[in-house]
Amino acid sequence: MTDDAPDAQRRRLLIATTSAVGGLGLVAGSVPFVCALRPSRSAEVAAAPVEVDLKALREGEQLTVQWRGQPVCVLHRSAADQARLLADEAGLADPDSRESSQPPYVDPRLRSRRPDIFVVTAICTHLGCIPSLAPGAADRDGGYLCPCHGSHFDLAGRVFRDQPAPLNLAVPPYHFRGDTLLVIGSDEEGAT
Ligand code: FES
Repeated sequence: MTDDAPDAQRRRLLIATTSAVGGLGLVAGSVPFVCALRPSRSAEVAAAPVEVDLKALREGEQLTVQWRGQPVCVLHRSAADQARLLADEAGLADPDSRESSQPPYVDPRLRSRRPDIFVVTAICTHLGCIPSLAPGAADRDGGYLCPCHGSHFDLAGRVFRDQPAPLNLAVPPYHFRGDTLLVIGSDEEGAT
C-alpha cells in the first residue's frame, strides 16, 4: 500500500458522489419539463368533442357552439333549402367541394351527413372573419355572409364565384348518436 492510496480512495468517493448528485439533478430537472409537455386540463377540455342536443332545433333555426376555440354552426335546413342547394349551383366556385376541407363521409354537395342538419366551421376562408347566417343576402336565397369583405356562401357553406374567399367553409368531423344527439369533434373512428 503506497502513501497516495487514501488520496485515490477519496478521489473515487468524490467522483461517485458527484455523479450521483448530478443524476438526481437531471431527474429533478426533467420532471417539470415532461410535465410541461403534457396538455393542460383547460387545453384538454377545449379540444374535447362537443355534444349538441338537436331536439329543440327547429327547421330554419341555427345554433352556434365553440369547438377548439372556433365557432361551429349547426343549421336545420328545410326540404326546400336542400332542393335549392342541389338545383342552383351555377354560380358556385367549387360546387362539388373538390378543393375544400371536409371529412370524406359528408356529401360533397350538401356537405353534410344528414341532408337536414348542416354542421360548419364559421371561419371565413379569406382572412378568418366569422360569417353569419343572412337569409336573402345579396339577393340569392340566403346563405352565409362574411362581414369583413362580403364573401357569400350558400347554405352548404359553398362560396360563390368571384368572392374574396377562395374556398368553401370547412366542415369539422362529427357524428350522430341516435336521431337527436350530434357530437362535434369526433367521428365513428374517433378521429378528432
Ligand atoms: S375575411 Fe371573409 S371576406 Fe375577407
